[in-house]
Amino acid sequence: MRRLVLPFVVTLGLFSCEPNQPVAEDPLEKKIDSLMSKMTLVEKIGQTAQRGTSSRVKGKLSDDLKNAVREGRIGSLINVMNKEFVDELQRIAVEESPNGIPLIFARDVIHGFKTIFPIPLGQAATWNPTLVEEGARIAAVEASSYGVRWTFAPMLDIARDPRWGRIAESPGEDPYLASALSAAYVRGFQSEDLSDPTSMVACAKHFVGYGAAEGGRDYNTAVIHESLLRNVYLPPFQKAVEAGVQTFMSGFNELNGIPVSGSEFLLDQVLRQEWGFDGFVVSDWNSVTEMIAHGYCKDEKDAAFKAARAGVDMEMTSQSFENYLQELISEGQLDINQLNRMVRAILRVKFRMGLFDQPYRVDNEELILSENHLRKAQDAAIQSMVLLKNENDLLPLKSTQKFAVIGPLAEAPLDQLGTWIFDGDKENSVTSLTALNEIFGNGQINFSQGLDYSRDRSKANFDKAIMAAQQSDVVLFFGGEEAILSGEAHSRAHINLPGVQEDLLKELKKKTKKPIVLVIQAGRPIVLENIISEVDAILMAWHPGTMAGPAIADILTGKANPSGRLPVSWPKSVGQIPIYYNHKQTGRPASQESFVGIDDIPIGAWQSSLGNESHYLDDGFEPLYPFGFGLSYSKFIYTDLNISSDSLGKHDELTVTFEITNSSKNEGVEVAQLYLRDHYGSITRPVKELKKFKRVALKPKDKVKVEWTIDKSDLEYYNAENKLVVEPGQFSVFVGANANTTLKKDFWIK
Ligand code: BGC
Repeated sequence: MRRLVLPFVVTLGLFSCEPNQPVAEDPLEKKIDSLMSKMTLVEKIGQTAQRGTSSRVKGKLSDDLKNAVREGRIGSLINVMNKEFVDELQRIAVEESPNGIPLIFARDVIHGFKTIFPIPLGQAATWNPTLVEEGARIAAVEASSYGVRWTFAPMLDIARDPRWGRIAESPGEDPYLASALSAAYVRGFQSEDLSDPTSMVACAKHFVGYGAAEGGRDYNTAVIHESLLRNVYLPPFQKAVEAGVQTFMSGFNELNGIPVSGSEFLLDQVLRQEWGFDGFVVSDWNSVTEMIAHGYCKDEKDAAFKAARAGVDMEMTSQSFENYLQELISEGQLDINQLNRMVRAILRVKFRMGLFDQPYRVDNEELILSENHLRKAQDAAIQSMVLLKNENDLLPLKSTQKFAVIGPLAEAPLDQLGTWIFDGDKENSVTSLTALNEIFGNGQINFSQGLDYSRDRSKANFDKAIMAAQQSDVVLFFGGEEAILSGEAHSRAHINLPGVQEDLLKELKKKTKKPIVLVIQAGRPIVLENIISEVDAILMAWHPGTMAGPAIADILTGKANPSGRLPVSWPKSVGQIPIYYNHKQTGRPASQESFVGIDDIPIGAWQSSLGNESHYLDDGFEPLYPFGFGLSYSKFIYTDLNISSDSLGKHDELTVTFEITNSSKNEGVEVAQLYLRDHYGSITRPVKELKKFKRVALKPKDKVKVEWTIDKSDLEYYNAENKLVVEPGQFSVFVGANANTTLKKDFWIK
């Protein structure tokens, strides 16, 4: 929607302008009216400015900054990480600025503040929204103690490419799981009462399409057609709005030719008009002025104009709003009503946060890293871990065995915390080595790291590691990626174990023949093609956070039974990427029966279309491990799938029931999953889509009946006209332990 530009002459900065909005009935809007009627243009523009300091700068408060706050020229600050500075700046804003409007202090509190939880991709692997909510709540309690009342989380970018470093921060590849987690994060950060001084305003980011960066290269171009956007990339963001998220961040990326920070379609039409979002939008760091580099804006003034027109309300760090909004308004290019709308949205959130009544932070220092917080972090880490392979039931470990602890991540207190942990201290980390030593004592543990860090290329310590393995019954190899290899600007083209970890694993196997447990700590799925056959068990631990060690030890020893499930498909090779479960069928779908592998082709074969299907000759068509996959020390069996009808109307409900039996001697948790397939539509439909999931606890030999109701909301999708529709035709409902499940029933929508 384009806004009309009215000729408007102002004496810049010197007079109060009326909000020029209908007088609202709502008491909150009335308060905003009254405040805005007293604000000068300079103050209004001030509210749209978020000044930043680098995440590490602790230095001294500059007079410039204090004066800017005093004059009402700043609405928010990012990365002020000194309690005294926070208090002083807030005092100046409240007591000395013209209208006493409090500041909001913002920070990236992504997966914990001081108590670090697993990286978000790991938290997604818990398939446990309640736990995610609790983790977000804990982060808010800790961060707000430092004055942080606004976090730039949750990150809701659907990610189908593990080369992209920011997949670590994402909820994975699936819109349904991501949506459930989105709401959980928002509830946790914001709490039930936004005016509670321990709540943090959440920020749904990066709106939108950033995760679809071509080739997985960060900041790269994204091209997503509209129905795909609406069916896959937008749902977690819409869910955040439904959960009451107060802010959005416009991403760095361009989408279909327009940088998001200048997209009226996204920021105005979709977000505000269609979804009714009434909080405010902050740009990403300099993303307004980066529209010049994108080739979308002529200069800073043009960038300020296009961002404000599109619907960015607050500019993070770059200062084009501060520098040009006055001019744009006085020249009549930008409608003053647009600025009023921006300021109103920001003030609305400040009022909802209770900042006008309680602008100062509440110190909860005693809760930081409390026993309860650490216990939750450990629990989240345990539930995030995915057991990928367990030959001959190598795990859990037998208490009488001797273990060689080898590898660069065994004693890596910083790396186990993962990306985006500005406030996490490695001093608080409990490492795997520490935890295992505590359980087994030195007599059973032979530690020899072999490699100093994940990228280490020196083989100088291989011999010592091999000797440690020879003196042990089982090798526990702690491999993976340092934290710095994932996250922003850390995309990788080769996503195997970096450095010479693969060589060390191969030598260990060759020279000792001992069983090897590979524990991976990494920010993404790792390509295992060169070493999969060298290792007997694989535990994906992501970057688990402060309590990584005890959590990993609990799983390895069987004190905890693995219950994490993959929130992304795990590729066999980089060449398979992008590979995701909810893909389209194609006209020539691949099948195991008619697959032709590269070695099946006769030498000198006539040019023919062997197999004739959508697959790779050398890597097939399936990932190494499917979405939703994860082993357990229990064994779960799915039976008795029943549906209430095989023919229903568009508005009818379908009841789906089935049973899960734990046929093992171990108590465990299964993540039951339900997928739907819409066999044909007015546009082609994915082969499967996750529609329900549930963590189900089962005692040994327990049998549990699960019942779910499918309704219109599960069946509808955005068609080629971008309308939400349920179309008649054949559907299948699948239940099982991962996206590969074949247990199904068909039904028809009339
Ligand atoms: C990132 C955002 C982050 C912001 C503030 C940017 O570089 O893309 O995710 O919130 O910095 O630190």
